[in-house]
Amino acid sequence: MCGIVGYLGKNNTKEILLSGLKELEYRGYDSAGIAVLQGDSFESYKAIGKLVNLEEKTKEFTTDGFAVGIGHTRWATHGKPTELNAHPHLGESSYVVHNGIIENYVQLKTKLQAKGINFLSQTDTEVIVHQFEENLYDAKDAFKAFSKTITELEGAYATLLVTKSMPETIYFAKHGSPMLVGVNDAGEKFFASSDSPLIGLAKEVNYFEDGDYGYVNKDELVIYNKNNELVEPKFTSLATDKLSAQKDGYRFFMEKEIYEQSDVIADTLMGRLCDDEIIFDELDKSLFDGINEIKLCACGTSYHSALCASYMFERYAKVRCSVEIASEFRYREPLMSKDTLFVVISQSGETADTLETLKMAKNAGLKTLVVCNVDNSSMVRLADACILTRAGIEKGVASTKAFATQVTVFWMLSLYVAKLRDALNTDGLKHQIHLLREIPTSVIVTDEMHERIKRLSKRYLHGHGFFFIGRDVFFPLALEGALKLKEISYLHAEGYPSGEMKHGPIALADPELFTIALLPQHLLYEKSKSNVEELSARDSTICAISPINFDKADDFIPINVCKDYMLEFFEMMVVVQLLSLEISIRLGNDVDMPRNLAKSVTVE
Ligand code: G6P
Repeated sequence: MCGIVGYLGKNNTKEILLSGLKELEYRGYDSAGIAVLQGDSFESYKAIGKLVNLEEKTKEFTTDGFAVGIGHTRWATHGKPTELNAHPHLGESSYVVHNGIIENYVQLKTKLQAKGINFLSQTDTEVIVHQFEENLYDAKDAFKAFSKTITELEGAYATLLVTKSMPETIYFAKHGSPMLVGVNDAGEKFFASSDSPLIGLAKEVNYFEDGDYGYVNKDELVIYNKNNELVEPKFTSLATDKLSAQKDGYRFFMEKEIYEQSDVIADTLMGRLCDDEIIFDELDKSLFDGINEIKLCACGTSYHSALCASYMFERYAKVRCSVEIASEFRYREPLMSKDTLFVVISQSGETADTLETLKMAKNAGLKTLVVCNVDNSSMVRLADACILTRAGIEKGVASTKAFATQVTVFWMLSLYVAKLRDALNTDGLKHQIHLLREIPTSVIVTDEMHERIKRLSKRYLHGHGFFFIGRDVFFPLALEGALKLKEISYLHAEGYPSGEMKHGPIALADPELFTIALLPQHLLYEKSKSNVEELSARDSTICAISPINFDKADDFIPINVCKDYMLEFFEMMVVVQLLSLEISIRLGNDVDMPRNLAKSVTVE
């Protein structure tokens, strides 16, 4: 999704902007641009496609001494990914970059066009710069004009603006899309839409709140809040080591992240397991007082981990549980009662739809909890309580280790709640904790397994579709397996409950329909097997994943014999991730940055 960077200072502005954008690259984008103001002279460059194209265009461009600059990676929403639609957008003598959506841009644009203003792009963003210049014409003061412009915008945005009328200043505003500013002892100011571009550059950062706006110059950082009150920055320190992961010999970040799962799950378990108790120091037990239902809400892969959680909460903790897709929940006028704990799940903590549901739940007076991978993200700052998943920075757009740690957290949390509610006896709890300790081993990728999947993948590059099927928690895993394949191979895949195939999809069965069957030994094995046999009898090509050899399968990927179905879950999770990876690689796709997708979706 779109990314913003900004810089004010006397160092190499071009390089700082470009390397900041590089840090945001993994979020997904289709064009990029920068604008730099030095003295009263602007230089702006834009390019479609990857950042190397922008680097190439700016090869000859240098700055000398103090400058202000803004940069952007764009993930197209309004208008195609063209150079004209790429940010920064120019007015007469100002440039703007923006994340989010200006919902009333058509009204604003129509009025501006009626006054004779010419628009170059199809974007919503361009209205900001023209509206600003209109206001500047009347107000004769850049900050007054900027403040007025902000009041005229509806929607969600984070924006930076630079103008010749105040050449050593960057104006900023944040409403609904994340943005932070960093400072250092040399008086430099750095902006970005997430932490990573600022690491190593700024020691202290201020995360803007919704409604914050203001400006920076050499000497000042001036912030007004949504009530137009001057506020002091709330600085927090930022890690100093560059987290920007390197591929360490792996072909893709996704591959590296699959291999990292054992370590990051061990981190996620660390300090949280005792012999007969789960410990979440970050939670106050009173969070669960008076709670009769848990409602989980998320998007994408995080939604699949929420579905897994719902099985575990009901099975282990005996608490009623429901799961919602955030974009649906927002607009369906849901009934919310105060005996419900509202849990949002998000790798990034910034997904616009999920964030909005969290706000709704808070406004309705519900207790809220976020399970998240990014500390200081918008959701972490907003929710009453937070559990961090400790997956580390995830760069591959297709989420793997974040999902693995989410499910790990939910397994622990369901046992934690089970203990609070006396729903599981001590022996039962001890047994579960013993199993939890085995997850890191069950997700280790062996050479043998990887080689087998690599070899087998060549048989799955065509066909008219994939069905991943499973029962119980293996149904959300089937959904997740299908999502992974869709995301990076661009082949059509669906996840389906095994028992539901005969109610429609089985009509599609033929040798070109590939069924990826999840057949755990410890959960409804016979039932699931019968469902696969029904498909095999109709000549669907079957790839079975199971610890038990299955002779009706065309292909078979064995997993280790485990003590419990949840360990089988984790073993199979790795298999479906690797299968998607290898199919995508064979198809020659960009595994880490698949077409049309964004890592962090900050628009609804
Ligand atoms: C995007 C990503 C998915 C992710 C979803 C939710 O669509 O491409 O991988 O699952 O957003 O993101 P979140 O950060 O809220 O988990």
